Amino acid sequence: MDIQSLRLFSKEFHQNPYDYYKQIRSHHPFAKVNMVGEGHYSWMAFTYDAATAVLKDERFIKDMRTVFPNEVTDDNMTPISQSMLFVDPPDHRRLRKLVQRGFTPKNIEKLRGRVEEIARDQADQMKGQETIDFISAYAFPIPIQVICELLGVPSEDRLDFQRWSNALVDVTEYEQFEASTAEFMAYLEKLLEQKRQFPEEDLLSELMVAEEDGGRLTLKELYGVVMLLIVAGHETTVNLIANGLLALLTHPEQLSLLKEEPALIPQAVEELLRFNGPVEFSTDRWARESFTFMGQQVTKGDHVIVSLASADHDPDLFENADQLDITREQSPHLAFGKGIHYCLGAPLARLEGEIAIRVLLEQYPNISLAAPLSELEWRQSFIIRGLKRLPVRLR
Ligand code: HEM
Repeated sequence: MDIQSLRLFSKEFHQNPYDYYKQIRSHHPFAKVNMVGEGHYSWMAFTYDAATAVLKDERFIKDMRTVFPNEVTDDNMTPISQSMLFVDPPDHRRLRKLVQRGFTPKNIEKLRGRVEEIARDQADQMKGQETIDFISAYAFPIPIQVICELLGVPSEDRLDFQRWSNALVDVTEYEQFEASTAEFMAYLEKLLEQKRQFPEEDLLSELMVAEEDGGRLTLKELYGVVMLLIVAGHETTVNLIANGLLALLTHPEQLSLLKEEPALIPQAVEELLRFNGPVEFSTDRWARESFTFMGQQVTKGDHVIVSLASADHDPDLFENADQLDITREQSPHLAFGKGIHYCLGAPLARLEGEIAIRVLLEQYPNISLAAPLSELEWRQSFIIRGLKRLPVRLR
């Protein structure tokens, strides 16, 4: 396969990336690919080995202010690009520490009862309907409500968040990206002012204290972390639930097994994350210096991304990698990344994924696809693997 002409963000590629990855991986563990158009080349890691090596190598850095000091400065950087996911130590450590306590497995476990209530409520609202779009009726509302409650953001405003966060991760016009960032910031400014005057027991009110403390968090960083959590809470778990259901519906023997043995759900969620995970590509990394990496000459300032989806189908690490097997044990998948930027929300995403899928199958055991696979359309995103709609029949 001519890797340089591969259109990674084309419709054909999104329809079934795993077949393409299979052809690429064995010949090109780490290769230069054409990202969006002529002249825009990036390094991409396709094998599990290359992927983990990139994610753990501190010469691949995130902060564009360090890589391009003449072009990128505090002033022209958007708040989200100053959040923990786009900076390096020591800033990364400082920013992650401010919110990490709220996301430990122990603290997330306390949300179990509430997440269960939200999932049951959402499932009840679908009663009496024959065919629905599973994403808007179930997969989307659950994680949104949870992240909104955790942060202390009114969930009535979720359609606005959806629009803004979609624009931040989809392949859209740059103007659209800028306009959405501006609207998002104006909204947050008002909301944060309210929290300042009337603090509550939520993460936003806690973060306001850190900002007012001075030295721990600047105002732009405060916007950045809130935007990052809202985007991460909106764009990822929805696709764990929807891609996960799609994988089960297209593998009826695995679906039956899960219905017979509901105790397999935690393992099944790990396998669904590996098999058709919601984050197809890592976010951007940049070479801090020129060096040889996996036999290739990388030049200072080169752009590098990791195909998490390809790494998670690497047969060198996963037996029968292209098969869905919910009894797979100890899966070291990369769906949540690796290294210092390992997903902060992983315990929350796992909890939501387990509850959402279990409640759905308890209440709608005969759920089935209501459209041929070939008619399902994938979103054109730089990062996310998710469907635009997933029509299902409930009875
Ligand atoms: C199934 C759902 C999710 C998946 C598959 C996922 C995946 C990922 C991945 C792959 C990364 C690392 C990206 C990189 O290194 O380039 C990441 C980072 C992150 N995720 Fe998630 N995520 C999910 C849900 C969430 C949720 C629900 C939240 C929080 C509300 C969240 C918050 C974060 C944050 C804050 C980071 C940045 C961590 C850092 O830079 O230290 N994620 N996630």
